[in-house]
Amino acid sequence: MLRNKPVLIPYLLLVAAMAGGLLWYQSARQPELGRVVSTGKMDVGGPFRLTDHTGNPRGDTDFRGRYMLIYFGFTFCPDVCPTTLAVMADALDKLGADAKQVVPVFITIDPERDTTKVLADYMKAFGPNFVGLTGSVAQIKDVEKKFRVYAVKRQLEGSQDKDAGYGVDHSNVLYLVGPDGKTVNFYSEAISPDDLAKDLKQKI
Ligand code: NI
Repeated sequence: MLRNKPVLIPYLLLVAAMAGGLLWYQSARQPELGRVVSTGKMDVGGPFRLTDHTGNPRGDTDFRGRYMLIYFGFTFCPDVCPTTLAVMADALDKLGADAKQVVPVFITIDPERDTTKVLADYMKAFGPNFVGLTGSVAQIKDVEKKFRVYAVKRQLEGSQDKDAGYGVDHSNVLYLVGPDGKTVNFYSEAISPDDLAKDLKQKI
């Protein structure tokens, strides 16, 4: 991991920001801790303009008025990405009618393989509300930077295929972006559907 120090630093900052967010969350629920925080806005995220899984341009402003629950990953990911997207789908199911206010968004960190067609097939597995987003390598790098995503390609052991035989090591964070486009919370990919639904219910 430490080989990639320069890339890792923004990720560590994000972890620190998440810890701060968690502290804010804990203290908001436990007033005896005596911490008063006047704002829940976090300086992570920002504008983007990408292409959705149906081939249409989609930007952050298209989602104003609703929450975005964003996860960054790649469709070739064998386990963590599909599991996390399933947790998002479960949590939104638990929200019932309130789920209308939250758009689940999957942004690929592997735009070379995750074309709109690949994303279209992949999103079907998680539900009709999911929006898959891809773009050029430069566009994706830009969004990764804004959300302080850690993503590094790694050649798979034993694979001779330089083009397809790679995985992507990546951070696993869910971002909740508010109706005004500001990031309001983070979740670990290890969160349960129940806990995620509970927190979303409080926020929206
Ligand atoms: Ni993954």
